[in-house]
Amino acid sequence: KYEKVWMLFGSGTLLVFLIVVGVSAFYMGNKPPSCAVTLDPEEVDTHTLFKEPGLTQIGDNEYQLTIVASAFDYDVGNDEKIIQIPKGATVHVSSTTKDVIHGFEIAGTNVNMMLEPGYISTYTNTFKNAGTYTLVCNEYCGVGHHLMAATIEVI
Ligand code: CUA
Repeated sequence: KYEKVWMLFGSGTLLVFLIVVGVSAFYMGNKPPSCAVTLDPEEVDTHTLFKEPGLTQIGDNEYQLTIVASAFDYDVGNDEKIIQIPKGATVHVSSTTKDVIHGFEIAGTNVNMMLEPGYISTYTNTFKNAGTYTLVCNEYCGVGHHLMAATIEVI
C-alpha cells in the first residue's frame, strides 16, 4: 500500500525536476538575462566597442571594460591578460564571443554572465575590495576550456 505513495512521490519529484531544468534551459538559451544588444559575431573585430578591448575611463571613478572571448582565450587588450582596476571604481563590463558559448565569471564577485555568439553581455560592478580576482570561463566550450582565464587586479 505504501509503495504506491512512494512511487507517486518519486515520479512527482522527477517531473518537477524535469520541468525546472526544461524551463531554465529554455530561458537561458533564448534570452540570457544579461544580454540586450545583438551583433554579428563575424564583425566583432571591427565593432566600435570591441575592436580595442580593455579598460577605458569614461567618467569620475567610472570605467568601461570590454573583453572579447573566443576559444580558448579572453582578449583583454594585453598579452599578460591582466586588467588593473582602481579600488572603488564602477566598471561597466561588456563582453561577447566570436565563436561558441563561453562563460564569464569573475570569481569572488557578483559578475557571472553567459557569453553567446551574436549577443553583447553587460554587467555593472563596483570593485569595493582590493585584491586579485580571476576571470574564468564557466561554460564548457571545448578542449581548452580550462585554459580560459584572465586576471583582474583591484588596487
Ligand atoms: Cu570558454 Cu569554457
